[in-house]
Amino acid sequence: MKRTKMWGAGEMKLGVHRRKHSGLWSAIHAILPVLIVNSVLAVDTTLSELDLSTIRQGWGKAQADKSVQEKPLTIAGEVFEKGLGTHASSIMYIELDGKAEAFRAKAGVDDEIGASPASIVFKAIVDGRTLFDSGVMKAGDKARPVDVSLKGAKMLILFAGDAGDGINFDHADWAAAVIVMADGKPRAVAAPKEDAVILTPKPGPAPRINGPKVYGCRPGNPFLYRVPTTGARPMKFSATGLPAGLVLDAVTGIVTGTAPARGEYKVTFRAENGHGKSEREFRIIGGDKLALTPTMGWNDWYAHYNRITDPMMREAADIMVSSGMADVGYQYVDIDDCWEAKRGPDGNIIPNQKFPDMRDMTAYIHAKGLKAGIYSSPGPRTCAGYTGSYKYEAQDAKQIADWGFDLLKHDWCSYGEVAGGRDLTALQKPYRLMGDLLKQQKRDIVLNLCQYGMGDVWKWGAEVGGHSWRTGGDLGFELHRIFQIALRNCEIGQFNKPGEWNDPDYIQIGYIGSAHGMGHPRPCGLTPNEQYSFMSLWCLMASPLFYSGDMTKLDEFALNVLCNPEAIEVNQDPLGKCARVACKTNDTFVLVKEMEDGSKAVGLCNQGEFETEVVANWTDIGVSGKQRVRDLWRQKDLGEFTDRFSANVPRHGVALVRMAGR
Ligand code: GAL
Repeated sequence: MKRTKMWGAGEMKLGVHRRKHSGLWSAIHAILPVLIVNSVLAVDTTLSELDLSTIRQGWGKAQADKSVQEKPLTIAGEVFEKGLGTHASSIMYIELDGKAEAFRAKAGVDDEIGASPASIVFKAIVDGRTLFDSGVMKAGDKARPVDVSLKGAKMLILFAGDAGDGINFDHADWAAAVIVMADGKPRAVAAPKEDAVILTPKPGPAPRINGPKVYGCRPGNPFLYRVPTTGARPMKFSATGLPAGLVLDAVTGIVTGTAPARGEYKVTFRAENGHGKSEREFRIIGGDKLALTPTMGWNDWYAHYNRITDPMMREAADIMVSSGMADVGYQYVDIDDCWEAKRGPDGNIIPNQKFPDMRDMTAYIHAKGLKAGIYSSPGPRTCAGYTGSYKYEAQDAKQIADWGFDLLKHDWCSYGEVAGGRDLTALQKPYRLMGDLLKQQKRDIVLNLCQYGMGDVWKWGAEVGGHSWRTGGDLGFELHRIFQIALRNCEIGQFNKPGEWNDPDYIQIGYIGSAHGMGHPRPCGLTPNEQYSFMSLWCLMASPLFYSGDMTKLDEFALNVLCNPEAIEVNQDPLGKCARVACKTNDTFVLVKEMEDGSKAVGLCNQGEFETEVVANWTDIGVSGKQRVRDLWRQKDLGEFTDRFSANVPRHGVALVRMAGR
């Protein structure tokens, strides 16, 4: 629909194209030439004519003159011929060159969702000022008229966001939407691109010992721990207080031997090179518990799927050391699904040809001071359709230990067929069985449950022998939801404690494969700020930190996000607390994590589309008086603050700080 308009002299609908003036109009023109010197012919551009591929939205694809599900645009029974069908969170940037007059539309939730609980806020933002705010709109609400002046404006942003309850069902229509422009055409443009800014200074040449301060092991089992230390090699390592049976290699910094008897052993590690010295207290706890701090490592799943091979695992171990990841605490090198072939005549599981010698592979990983992890499913088949452990659990537990693995991820797939129900006993049975079997092995084997949170696994995962448990489905399918997942996990944060970890799935930054169809690794699609947020949230939640991207494609930016020892220290804190939500608005929230030394790690989080100030008030975060605040990503002291600390947090960003009283 196009029409001409004379600004300031009323509207005249003159059909499809700019027309010659009518007779009456010519007469006026003749009589009052001076009055119309400033009059301009304006043209309406329908929103749906613009390049909709520039729109960023939370689900589906933006549609011209149709709803997001490609039905006629309909709001509260009113059908619209023209408009934009989109889905929260949706954002469209339109350049106007200062030549537009107005934006008009009717905004509302599309009827196609029926009575589902949608809630959307529509905003029209003109050169940074919100000139239209619909308030919360629900399914069935009458379309809200929008009429916004664009005089002199350079940029119009159309935003349809969720109203604080997630984006489910938020089918958002900008119906009958037009931009009235005196001259030229509006242009939809891509959202401004963020630069991948490296915030964290590179580790200096002087030694710095990182990683956990406490470590659990079972008496009499093989012991292996590489003291994670940044700084130039060669370096000389030493320790005091190491229990008998353990030896520290002075060159590699790897501790090996036999785990000591039950009890607590206070050790001090030291590292020294030509540039300086570092010292770190470390407690070894001989007992039943493992994984006293969240497990850290790499898992191949989201990069390699069924392409994983033994040489790729060894290469990942090499890179874990050469990239510096091992120097900040990454430790496990885990093979996921797709290594299994079949059972041999004795019932033992036989790996496929891509894994010719499991024992040799784990020995290779161990020689670097790292640990090896493996995967199975309690059902007859794994999730990718390979041989599972059903009815061979004891053999598999023994085999995994004999091969030298230090971690088992135990999935659920196909177990549903044999579980005989979904009651708690049925849900727990396979994990209790495997948990008990692993405890009987002469190795410390960490058990990661992967049954997507069924039966509130966080309430009983530890009781059946698990050290961590997935709290939901595969994050690979819902990467954009990291903030919502963090908020949800913080609600069950009280179940997080040393040796018992809620697991929201792997870190997927850098190059990752596509979860849809096991695609090859490519850039993850998250913005730089989203990648910082990913890591910040996982650190604040004390979640297991497993990177699951392509190790061979780690670049400087990804490594800077993965390897900041001050962020990792938040994750590895011995108290093992998950952050709590101290305060929340629609778009922002503040997370607070209690640290062992009495300080607090605080995340100022912005899940909204625009940079905004996020405030952490002392009353909300439970501190008082003067607080010294340190920016953990920049590793920079920000000074002393009283009553509150605030930061301008970018779109989908987190400001991660640590604060302590005097
Ligand atoms: C899924 C699991 C993934 C991966 C996959 C392997 O169930 O959540 O993390 O392990 O199985 O097939």
